[in-house]
Amino acid sequence: MTAIKYKASVVRTEHFNAAHRLGVSTWSDEKNKRVFGKCNNANFHGHNYELEVKVTGVVNDETGFVIDTKELSNIINQEIIERFDHKNLNLDTKEFKNLNPTAENIAAVIYSILRDHIAAENEIKIKLYETPRNYVEYPA
Ligand code: NI
Repeated sequence: MTAIKYKASVVRTEHFNAAHRLGVSTWSDEKNKRVFGKCNNANFHGHNYELEVKVTGVVNDETGFVIDTKELSNIINQEIIERFDHKNLNLDTKEFKNLNPTAENIAAVIYSILRDHIAAENEIKIKLYETPRNYVEYPA
C-alpha cells in the first residue's frame, strides 16, 4: 500500500479529583458571593475532573500513529495528574496561587504545561469536565 499523508486526532481521557475555591481577592465578600455563589465557599469544595486531551497531526507512515496513546497517557499522568490529583488547587499548587482556578483557567494551564511535552507539529486541544454537565475547551 502506498503511504498517503493524512491527519487524524487521538484523544486520551484521564481523571483527577481536586478542591478549589473561586474568588477575586480584591473584591468584597458580597461581590464574590454574588458572582461565584457556592464556588466561593470559604472552606473549599471538590470536583471530579474528567480531562480529555486531543492531539491532532499527520499520521506517521511507519507506525500508523499520530502519537502513541501509552506515551500520551504517561505525559498526562506525569505532568498533570501527579501535579493536581487530590490537591487543593488554591493552596497546594503554584499554578493557582494567584490565578482563579475556574475550569477555563485550569484547561489553559493544562494546555500550556502539555504544550512543552508534545511535538510542536501536533495540535493540542483540552476538554475539561468539571461536572458531567459542564465542560470547557481550550483553545476555543
Ligand atoms: Ni467548583
